[in-house]
Amino acid sequence: MRLKRTNIILALCLVIWASLLYYSFSTIQMSTNDKNDEVEKNLNHLEAGLSEQFHMNNDMIRNAHKFLLHKKKGVDTNVIDVEWKIPILVFACNRISITKCLDKLILYRPNPDKFPIIVSQDCNHQETTNIIRKYEQVTLIQQPDQSDIQVPPKEKKFKGYFKIARHYGWALNQMFFNYNYSSIIIVEDDLEVAPDFYEYFLGTYPILKKDPSLWCISAWNDNGKENLVNLKRKDLLYRTDFFPGLGWMLTKSLWLELYSKWPRAYWDDWIRDPAQRKGRACIRPEISRTRTFGKIGISNGLFYEKHLKYIKLNEDFVPFTKMNLTYLLKDNYDEDFINAVYQSAIVTYEDLREGKILSEGPVRVIYRTKEEFKRRSKMLGLMDDFKSGVPRTAYKGIVTFHYKGTMVHLAPNLNWKGYDPSWS
Ligand code: UD1
Ligand code: MN
Repeated sequence: MRLKRTNIILALCLVIWASLLYYSFSTIQMSTNDKNDEVEKNLNHLEAGLSEQFHMNNDMIRNAHKFLLHKKKGVDTNVIDVEWKIPILVFACNRISITKCLDKLILYRPNPDKFPIIVSQDCNHQETTNIIRKYEQVTLIQQPDQSDIQVPPKEKKFKGYFKIARHYGWALNQMFFNYNYSSIIIVEDDLEVAPDFYEYFLGTYPILKKDPSLWCISAWNDNGKENLVNLKRKDLLYRTDFFPGLGWMLTKSLWLELYSKWPRAYWDDWIRDPAQRKGRACIRPEISRTRTFGKIGISNGLFYEKHLKYIKLNEDFVPFTKMNLTYLLKDNYDEDFINAVYQSAIVTYEDLREGKILSEGPVRVIYRTKEEFKRRSKMLGLMDDFKSGVPRTAYKGIVTFHYKGTMVHLAPNLNWKGYDPSWS
């Protein structure tokens, strides 16, 4: 009996011992598992941290490269935003030939994400709407106010200019306040663009942002007829006091200045008024990056036949973004330009016209009065009109062009006092 009890006690001890052994073994096992989990968690954490660090380093290196590149070009690095988008705003009404404009804009576009094309249509012309809608790559917006515009009786025949100004005001508000873009390029439906149209704006954009004495970049040379440009200098750009329009870029900060006083009509002449221009200049090319095919439009066709249709469209690609364009900054440009102009030899326009000037140039033809300017510019085939006293393409009163192999400056005296708005 006693043996039996001892056996039972022994067996019980055995069970307790086995249980204890099992328990302690299993806790060791569990804590190893927990430890493994924790180590794995830490590893994952470390890996995520390293990967994040890696990306941050990459970003930093990329930004440093960009910074150095822009520094080399002498451009303010704060203005280059990685997220940039520059939309092309195309003004349309009832031209079904807008296809010509859109086809080229799409053909030459280097990156659809960076350059969204937005067509703003006025006039409710259904046939044109249908054509625009066929372009999947294009966003169509429509000017909603098609009400009749009250126009002073004398200006009845200019009602079109009132409609255009209303359309511009609405569409620019859309671009800057609704879509919130910071810069845009404006194109009209009768413009055909050059192969390097985008490259031109991309290259000059940092200059526009950096230089407060500039307020636009235009693709248009008002005196850009084939016989008045240097076909060997497709890369050449200028500053001009004359607002050219016709394919041009503006920034939101300019629109913030203009939108509240936007005019009812003749917006392009209004913008050229000293009250708006405030002494600022645009960049313009030697050879136009747009061409207009809009023979029938709001203004008369005679201007088109006599002048606009001869403007030469650039055909090749100039890599503007890879070039140093800082010579266009006012601080670099003005002194060099004035020196070049006033150190150049004076010639008569008769000699020039008769091809007697053999020098590589530049040479200078002088004008002192409005009449002299008109006469000489007419003789040379230049535009002879003024807007707010500024001749087309003029910079500091000087109209620069290319004539029979020579660069020519049609220039006032060195003691020039500024534009006279009464010259018209
Ligand atoms: C001229 C200018 C143009 C300027 C306009 C306004 C030239 C070669 N052209 O127009 O740059 O914007 O004066 O002063 O110097 N349009 C509308 N609604 C209308 C009619 C036209 O939105 O009711 C649009 C057209 O689609 C086009 C633009 O306005 O995009 C200009 O019209 P157009 O007929 O080409 O007139 P231009 O005489 O060239
Ligand atoms: Mn036009």
